[in-house]
Amino acid sequence: MSTPVKKVPIHLQSSQNRLVIRHGKIVNEDGVLEEDVYIEDGIIKQIGKNLIIPGGTRTIDARGKLVLPGGIDPHTHFEFEFMGAKSVDDFYQGTKAAVSGGTTMIIDFAFPKPGESILDCFYNYRQKADDKVCCDYALHMCLPHWSEQVKREMEILCKEHGINSFKMFMAYSFMLNDAELYSAFEQCQKLGAVAQVHAENGAIIVKNIERLLSKGIVGPEGHELSRPEEVESEAVNRACVIAKQVKCPLYVVHVMSKQAAQVLNLARENGNQVYGEALVAGLATDGNQCKHQCFQHAAGHVLSPPLRSDPTTPLALMNFMAQDVLQVVGSDNCTFNKAQKELGKDNFTKIPNGVNGVEDRMSVVWEKGVHTGIIDPCRFVAITSTNAAKIFNLYPRKGYIGVGSDADIVVWNPNATRTISAKTHHQAVDFNIFEGMVCHGVPEYVVVNGRVILDEGQLRAVEGFGRFIDTPVFPPYVYDPSKLEELKPQNNGNVEEEIQNIREIEKLHLEEKTCLTPTLPESTASTPSGRGARPEGQRNIQDSTFSISEDLDTDRKSCIRVRNPPGGKSSGFW
Ligand code: URP
Ligand code: ZN
Ligand code: ZN
Repeated sequence: MSTPVKKVPIHLQSSQNRLVIRHGKIVNEDGVLEEDVYIEDGIIKQIGKNLIIPGGTRTIDARGKLVLPGGIDPHTHFEFEFMGAKSVDDFYQGTKAAVSGGTTMIIDFAFPKPGESILDCFYNYRQKADDKVCCDYALHMCLPHWSEQVKREMEILCKEHGINSFKMFMAYSFMLNDAELYSAFEQCQKLGAVAQVHAENGAIIVKNIERLLSKGIVGPEGHELSRPEEVESEAVNRACVIAKQVKCPLYVVHVMSKQAAQVLNLARENGNQVYGEALVAGLATDGNQCKHQCFQHAAGHVLSPPLRSDPTTPLALMNFMAQDVLQVVGSDNCTFNKAQKELGKDNFTKIPNGVNGVEDRMSVVWEKGVHTGIIDPCRFVAITSTNAAKIFNLYPRKGYIGVGSDADIVVWNPNATRTISAKTHHQAVDFNIFEGMVCHGVPEYVVVNGRVILDEGQLRAVEGFGRFIDTPVFPPYVYDPSKLEELKPQNNGNVEEEIQNIREIEKLHLEEKTCLTPTLPESTASTPSGRGARPEGQRNIQDSTFSISEDLDTDRKSCIRVRNPPGGKSSGFW
């Protein structure tokens, strides 16, 4: 663990504010082109050949390399208090590790402590994260219980604090029942948010645990036995059914089994607006690791839903990624040290659940997906970056290399290799589930907001350099604007006012779309994106709510309205 570098004010970085990446192959999810990228003040300003750029601009020669949108990891748990322990990667160490592996934005899960309101939880997460993050971040909010207050505060979070996604649990002591899920999904739909679900049947798990412990099965191998595949797939199906009733887009986090993915596939074929996230852990390793005779090794692989003992699962999940049955790869990075995993030495139910992945996600997905020939580089970009940006309404500001997008870029060497090890990784955790794995595909330069943070192997993470990024409601990728009225529940007492609100939002979307200037020339490849076809080589401006004319020269740290800011109440901006 190295000493954090102190934050450098943006205005003092002028010598570092201009960068050109030459001779590389730009890979977006919708195509590849051989052009140069010119960056100024954290924004991509020009793309093309023979660009005219100011003298003194730093040049990165990307000959033979790929120029990718920085990875977006939509599933992390930094400094998360869970199961009697606190995850050891904090927002500094975790985001630093992320950047070292080519991820330039993370979305963490804010999880309320017992008795804490979701609004206070939001403020507390901002306070924890803002001064530590080395790259941009956003937050999902977890709903560990359901109440009228939660419902009200969801609205405040969506309207005032840039939250557009809520995670509900169908397992653990804080799970919601079906009626509560129904209400929570209904509220998400009304607000234009994305419902996320941890899909496992909690009641069955409790009964299975009783049975296993009474038989004396107490080791880590008991973990998957208590949560078999059908316990996951049943919950995925139930979540899809409930979401369908209220026409709420649903994002199933950490899909870990073939059965669960098949259920999602069926729901998607039936026209349900559902999306599936695999984990890099699930694509690269399996549940047999939890049967290892070394407790530390076995417990180090315990997460929920579990890695599956069926050894064909990782390959099957990667094929589901290729076929667009699953759309996103997250890490679910939730790291506990060996000493913390010891909490479950005599009882597998007490092993803190979680594994690493934020640092290695990009390389491991490249190795298992692209190097094996299952997916092409465009699909790699889609599943590690663009699709998350679309679903959580960050696109094309994030997840895309185009004029006006944030300069979050990775220069990727597909031919270089590296060997993963806990001894050399940048994470705080003392274990790595990918230990010894040799990966083709190595980030050589990682540019975060225009600044070269990984520079020919030198990591120069800057604590607090990242910003909180709002995720606006009604992502057009999941809430098709043309269908908004049809989606509105009809039994609401204040339908007219609601439709008026929706029209305002639609109008805003349209105004913003007219600001966009598509800049991409012809592309040379395409991969499934989960939405209708569009002409190759054109930015999908219908999928955008981002105006390139905004905020280019202003202080780029976001400005948030708070009710209970750290240090006292306020109704203003800070
Ligand atoms: O085991 C896991 N997945 N730990 C993190 C919490 C969660 O459910 O995502
Ligand atoms: Zn979960
Ligand atoms: Zn998680």
